[in-house]
Amino acid sequence: MTNDSSLTVVIFGASGDLTARKLIPSLYRLDRKKRLPDELRIVGVARSPFADDAYRQKLRDALREFLPREYDDGAWGAFARRLFYVAGDATTRGGLDHLKAWLQQHEGAGGGRRLYYLAVSPDLYPKIVAGLGEEGLSREDGGWRRLVIEKPFGHDLASARALNRIIRGHFDEAQLYRIDHYLGKDTVQNVLVFRFANTLFEPVWNHNFIDSVQITVAETVPVGGRGDYYDRSGVLRDMFQNHLLQVLTMVAMEAPAKFTADHLRNEKVKVLDAVTVLDSDTACGQIVTGQYAGYRSEKGVRPDSKTPTYAAIKLGVDNWRWRGVPFYLRSGKAMDSRLSEVVIQFLCPPHLMFPLPPGQMLQCNRLAICIQPDEGIHLNFQTKVPDEAMTLKPADLEFHYRKAYPDRPIPESYERLLLDAINGDAHLFMRSDEIERAWEIMDPLIAATERPDAPPPQEYPVGSAGPKCADELLAGEGRAWLSLCRH
Ligand code: BG6
Repeated sequence: MTNDSSLTVVIFGASGDLTARKLIPSLYRLDRKKRLPDELRIVGVARSPFADDAYRQKLRDALREFLPREYDDGAWGAFARRLFYVAGDATTRGGLDHLKAWLQQHEGAGGGRRLYYLAVSPDLYPKIVAGLGEEGLSREDGGWRRLVIEKPFGHDLASARALNRIIRGHFDEAQLYRIDHYLGKDTVQNVLVFRFANTLFEPVWNHNFIDSVQITVAETVPVGGRGDYYDRSGVLRDMFQNHLLQVLTMVAMEAPAKFTADHLRNEKVKVLDAVTVLDSDTACGQIVTGQYAGYRSEKGVRPDSKTPTYAAIKLGVDNWRWRGVPFYLRSGKAMDSRLSEVVIQFLCPPHLMFPLPPGQMLQCNRLAICIQPDEGIHLNFQTKVPDEAMTLKPADLEFHYRKAYPDRPIPESYERLLLDAINGDAHLFMRSDEIERAWEIMDPLIAATERPDAPPPQEYPVGSAGPKCADELLAGEGRAWLSLCRH
C-alpha cells in the first residue's frame, strides 16, 4: 500500500553548495509555478546541528544571493513551510537514527514516498547508500523509494562498475536516477523533437549527406574554488565522459519506437556501443589537450599539474548511419566565450554549376543546435546576392527560443530533473550500462593523455579560443572548428 498523503525529498549534503545553489532554488521555482505536490516536504540531512528555523534562514539567505530577482517574501514563506532539517552523519552506524525518527513522526504508520538525493562528495556515496540499505530505508513499504545520484559517477570504468555493484546491492536499477544535468537542458531535449517530430531533417541525417559533426562546450569560468576536485579529474572526466557523450547520443541515436525511458536509453546505449573504442596508442592522434595559463597557481591544484582544462577529440560512430563521419568534440575552461553548440556540416552538392571566384570554396550547408546561452537552431544555406550576376553568399535561417517563447524563459535544468525524479520519469537519467560504456570509451583516451610519454597539455591564454593544437587536429583533416551560434 502506498501512502499518498506523504512525499519526502531527503537531501543528504543539506549544507553544501549544490543544495544552496541548485536544488533549493529549483524547488523554490517549482513551488512558485505550482508544480510541487501539496504534500511534498523537504528534509535536509547534514552533520552540523541546526534547528528547522535556523536552516530555513540559512537557505533563505542563499536564495536571496543566488536568485535576487526572483526572491519574494510571500513565496518564500509558503515554500519554507515544506523545509525541515535533521542532523546526522549518514556515513556512520547510527547516523541515520534521527532521520528514521523524523520520517516515522512525519509519515505516520502508513509510511510514505521518498526521494533520497545524494548532494554530497562522491566518496561518501557507498557508505550512505549502504546505510540506507542496511537500515531498511530502501525498502518500498508505504511507497516508492528513489535515489538520485550526482556526477561524477566513478573515476574510471573499474570504479564506476564497483559503485554500480554497491548501489545495486541496496537499490534496484528502477529506483535509480543518475543525473547528467545536460539532459535537463531544454535545448538538449529539443534535439529529439527537432529530429523525430519533423520529416525534413531525418532523411539527410546520415553519412550520405553529413560530412562531420562538431560538439562544443566552451566555458569562460576557470576552475574557481574546485581546484582540488578538478585537478584529480580534468576536463575529460568532468565534461566528456558525461555531458559531451550524452549530447552525442542524442544527435546520433536512432528513433526510439516509443517515448519511454527504456526505449530511449536502449537507443542511446546502442550509439555508445558503436563509438570506436581506441587503445591508448591509437588514441594519440585523435586527442589533444590544453591547460589555461595560470591554472597551476589555482588553489588546490598541484604546481606541476598536467591535468587538462581543455581537450578536443575525434570519435567515430561505427554503424550503418554514421560510418565514416567524424564526430569532433571539444570543451574547455577559461575560454573567450560561454557557448555550447552542435554543428552539423553537410556535404557539398555533388556538382556546382555556378562559377565561383578563383580560390573561393563553396560554404556547404550547416546546421547548428545552440544549446546555450542563445538557445535555438540556425540553418546556414547559400543565397543569390541581389542585383549582381550569379554571386553566392551564405545566409542563416535562425530560430531563437528567446524570441519564439518570450514568456517562457528556459528553466534551470535541475527543475526538470527534480520534477521528473519526483514523478518517476527516468527519461533524462542515465542507466548503469550507459555510464559504464561511456567510461569504456573515455578510459583509453584518458590513459593516452596520462602516459609518461604523452605530450603535456598545451598552454592557452585565459580568454582565448583554446590551444593551437585543437585547430591543428582539424586542419590535418582539411576542416576547421565552426561556430554558428556565436554573435
Ligand atoms: C559540471 C562540471 O558538470 O558542468 C563543471 O563539473 C562545469 O566543471 C559545468 O562548469 C557546466 O555546466 P553548464 O550547465 O554551466 O554548462
